[in-house]
Amino acid sequence: MSDYLDRIGAGLILVDAAPLSYDWIPPSIVGREDEQKELATMFASIGTPGMSCRAVITGNVGSGKTVLSRTFADDLTRHLSSVRSIQSVHVNCRNHPTTSQVLQRIATSLDDRHPERGFSASEVLQGIRRNVRTRNQHMLLILDEVDHLLRKDGADLLYQLLRIDEGRDESGTISLIIISQEEVLDQLEGAIISRFGLSNHLALKPYNAKQLTVIASQRAALCANPRAFSEEVLTLIGEAASDSGDARVAIELVEDSIRRAEMDGLDIVEQRHVQDDEVRRAKRGERFEPSIVDELNDHEKMILLAICRRLRRDPEVTSGDVSKLYQVVCEEYSVKPRGNTTFWKHLKSLENRGLIDSKTGTASVGRGRTQHITMPQALPGQLEERLEKAL
Ligand SMILES: Nc1ncnc2c1ncn2[C@@H]1O[C@H](COP(=O)(O)OP(=O)(O)OP(=O)(O)O)[C@@H](O)[C@H]1O
Ligand SMILES: [Mg+2]
Repeated sequence: MSDYLDRIGAGLILVDAAPLSYDWIPPSIVGREDEQKELATMFASIGTPGMSCRAVITGNVGSGKTVLSRTFADDLTRHLSSVRSIQSVHVNCRNHPTTSQVLQRIATSLDDRHPERGFSASEVLQGIRRNVRTRNQHMLLILDEVDHLLRKDGADLLYQLLRIDEGRDESGTISLIIISQEEVLDQLEGAIISRFGLSNHLALKPYNAKQLTVIASQRAALCANPRAFSEEVLTLIGEAASDSGDARVAIELVEDSIRRAEMDGLDIVEQRHVQDDEVRRAKRGERFEPSIVDELNDHEKMILLAICRRLRRDPEVTSGDVSKLYQVVCEEYSVKPRGNTTFWKHLKSLENRGLIDSKTGTASVGRGRTQHITMPQALPGQLEERLEKAL
């Protein structure tokens, strides 16, 4: 009965949009085998009761710090399940930059009934310790983007975490991984540096073209139809992303190229669909000349007008809504709206000119998907006036 809904963005290439979303964690990581071994060496004694381990991970944006530490924690927990019960806790200090917020996150992840207020930092800390010990567990605590905590509240909490068992007849309550984009080691107190140990510093290099190709291949295999990407196209993506060394760029290029190919009505991605990362950046950074409006054909103008009207009140608009609003604009100017294929072609041309930006939504209906359209380079109100005059 609702067969007609199959038409909603029927994905020629995209099978599952979830692996392309921002915080999706892949089942395994690829291209970081040496670093994984290095980290495992730093944690060699974590299987032994009473022992604690620690590591500092640093690296550029998108070098895989978060995903490396999270998959490590998961793998470790599974690997040691018969030997030692590991409870891993990941706290992003950018979202929780104070000592009390970090402690609150840890406490609630162990016990979701933990009260919001009424305890001092050291009381919460001792509560956490008791909780872990009573359950006969070992906590692997990951403090991600720890520089935010250090800047806000200094290193006190790290120091307390490192000495959590001091003065008691116990040891090995917590293992700790701290992560930062910057060289946090320099900002830390001497006492903490010696506690972490310089040999426990894992510095991730930016990814090279080959690693980025492998990362792109993994994502492509998880989100696209199996014959959509050739080895050549994936190599091209790896190379295009290698200036930044950022895995996120490679993943974005996979997403981008799928969208471009689908807009061409194809079920495979061709080399020309992979846009050079520099071009993408330039496009994002530059503001376009309003006179570009005069170069558009009437239907492009009307589609853009439809987009502007909605973006004057909402931050983004879906492709489905644009299509409906475009029909309304056509009615207003007494012209017959173009068919779906031409509509998509025009939408793509607006994007190629840098007038709009679009992202694939993760919440899709059936096999299809929705584009979320924004206009980062222009004020919709101004553009709307100009378009109305031109039309
Ligand atoms: N080796 C890898 N294998 C598979 N996916 C990866 C790999 N490295 C990074 N990714 C993916 O790339 C994206 C960025 O990685 P991640 O978030 O771990 O970077 P980061 O170093 O923590 O960046 P930031 O400094 O911004 O926090 C994520 O989607 C992640 O899943
Ligand atoms: Mg991160």
